[in-house]
Amino acid sequence: MSNDAVGRAVQSRIYRAGVFGRRPVVPVEPSALEAAARARMSEVAWAYVAGGAGRQRTVQANRDAFDRRRIVPRTLVDVEHRDTSVRLFGRRLPAPLLFAPIGVLELAHRDADHAVARAARALDLPMVISSQASVPMEDVARTLGEAPRWFQLYWSKDDDVVDSFVSRAEAIGSDALVVTLDTHVLGWRTHDLDLAYLPFARGEGIAQYTSDPAFRRLVEAREPSAGPSPRPTPSAVRALHSMARHYPGRTRDNLRSPLPRAAVETFLDVFSRSSLTWTDLARLRERTSLPIVLKGIQHPGDAALALEHGVDGIVVSNHGGRQVDGAIGSLDALPAVVEVVDGRIPVLFDSGIRSGADVVTAIALGATAVLVGRPWVYGLALAGAEGARAVMQHVWAELDLTMALSGVRSVDEIGPDLLAPV
Ligand SMILES: Cc1cc2nc3c(=O)[nH]c(=O)nc-3n(C[C@H](O)[C@H](O)[C@H](O)COP(=O)(O)O)c2cc1C
Repeated sequence: MSNDAVGRAVQSRIYRAGVFGRRPVVPVEPSALEAAARARMSEVAWAYVAGGAGRQRTVQANRDAFDRRRIVPRTLVDVEHRDTSVRLFGRRLPAPLLFAPIGVLELAHRDADHAVARAARALDLPMVISSQASVPMEDVARTLGEAPRWFQLYWSKDDDVVDSFVSRAEAIGSDALVVTLDTHVLGWRTHDLDLAYLPFARGEGIAQYTSDPAFRRLVEAREPSAGPSPRPTPSAVRALHSMARHYPGRTRDNLRSPLPRAAVETFLDVFSRSSLTWTDLARLRERTSLPIVLKGIQHPGDAALALEHGVDGIVVSNHGGRQVDGAIGSLDALPAVVEVVDGRIPVLFDSGIRSGADVVTAIALGATAVLVGRPWVYGLALAGAEGARAVMQHVWAELDLTMALSGVRSVDEIGPDLLAPV
């Protein structure tokens, strides 16, 4: 679809379908979308996707930060033709929207990353492929076809795994490498802890690793030292079956092999390195010519260091409030980072985007583009690829209409003067 007047096109398609008794494939209103997904998802899947750290104060702060900002629309501007496109790392994107990297998508829908890839392809918006995906990146890349893709890296304790992930990300034609800094250990996720549920411990969400030659070498080297088998309770049997199902090869053969369990144990050992510092980035800078984007920056001091170390972009993000309870709302962190960066590199934003109006607000505060996370996961849970696509299209449509109704023709024209002082 041309990005000229996306908003009206989507709006009128929905209203016209209504004449024939058809309602949107997923709810348009954000809290209705969330409620419908919650009703559809299993208890553990919902806790994993919707939950945040501790008392959920950062999840709330992310939304409160948006609720404190107000758009002040302008009138009598010719906004008949609007352009929602932006330029990012040498490519023109039809809208300032990316599919955030989200791990373990099989929790939402069996088509998982493939479904998201189909949605991204239909809209020609970039998919940021997660290190914790349910599907190896090469398979996702095939489903993406020509659509843009970025790769998100969790920096493993094992350098060979890091190198291998980077090579694979290059080979699948990634436009950028997103290094996530805020999750070198998992936050204190109270909802998951109360359900004693971690997907990776069952072999879910580790497909990038089990498909990786460097990781497989670690697994094979580890095999003889695997500890005693768990007691065969029904849950343990289910977990072992899940590990076998997720390991490459035939499940029947895997059930007799120690490798699937060794893979889970190896993953839990090497997942991420808490000793990572700015000097390690220099090595990555030499290692790849891909643009390096740091995800999880909240402090302006870290933005300054990012510039000093020659990174190509920043994502102001607090991981959707999943890491530090009581942390600053991500939108509240954005202006100070934008000020330090001063236009030298793109500043992307996530954590709390629920609508197109939110996108306008984040851009008004200086974001170049935004990553959308939980909302499309809810769409995915409700209606697979079509659901994820519909949610992103709704955000895009509302962005376009909010631009029109605010007197703005292009994304460049969205600036701080569009917001009321707080
Ligand atoms: C279920 C779930 C899984 C996620 N997995 C990853 C991941 O693998 N890598 C990553 O960098 N961020 C991950 N994130 C964080 C998102 O990329 C993004 O920062 C976050 O969803 C933004 O918050 P919001 O969805 O509330 O807007 C995950 C978020 C959720 C909800």
